[in-house]
Amino acid sequence: MADIHTDKGTVKQYFNEVYHDKATLENVPWVTGAVGIEILKKIINKQIPTGMSILDVGCGFGTEAVFMARHGHRVAAVDADPAIIAKAEKYAALLDTKVDFRVQNFLEIEQLKEFAGAFDIVTDQGCFHHILPQDRQAYKNAVKYCLKSGGRYFMRGFSYLMPPSTSGNGPIRLTSDDILNTFLADFYVEEMYVFDNIPVAGKEDVPQKFWFTALRKR
Ligand SMILES: C[S@@+](CC[C@H](N)C(=O)[O-])C[C@H]1O[C@@H](n2cnc3c(N)ncnc32)[C@H](O)[C@@H]1O
Repeated sequence: MADIHTDKGTVKQYFNEVYHDKATLENVPWVTGAVGIEILKKIINKQIPTGMSILDVGCGFGTEAVFMARHGHRVAAVDADPAIIAKAEKYAALLDTKVDFRVQNFLEIEQLKEFAGAFDIVTDQGCFHHILPQDRQAYKNAVKYCLKSGGRYFMRGFSYLMPPSTSGNGPIRLTSDDILNTFLADFYVEEMYVFDNIPVAGKEDVPQKFWFTALRKR
């Protein structure tokens, strides 16, 4: 497989292969069935109060989007991959839960007009770390565009403390500079730390050292 960090096409190819070439999601490592612990804590301690409008970017199978919708939020969720959105829609239907799922490349801001200034919160687990350095400003502009004034962005992504990729593919190991240089001009930093994310089945010995970053639109 080509290195996914060379251009947009190969990022798409990576997810096409992961989502389409496998008959099931059984072995897709990030489909754990669990909601991210940092989002869960924010819902429990009401730092995400009930009744928010939330956009989940790179929502994948929709685990978090469905969870947030079931906990009193109005949720839209986008993913560039049509196959995973189809599965997310089935998952939401199974739980009789309403989420506005859309197939959407988030880098195409001109396609996001309906979302302009619409959200209190944008969440992202595992999407920003796939965004190539040359596309980060476009990604940041899209987050900013979708948020209300003072809206918040919660990002979870691989940190530089993760072991390097063995295949040469996979998420970028982000430094704090990668994040701050992308967002600081348009966002205040409210929280930023590395946490231990859920272990990957079959690779329990590999520490999942993720950034949690909470930013507020200036
Ligand atoms: C590692 S998966 C994480 C999925 C989900 N957030 C989760 O935690 O299970 C990253 C997702 O981001 C999506 N993605 C990557 N680049 C994207 C882009 N430019 N626009 C929209 N989705 C994107 C991929 O298709 C993939 O489903």
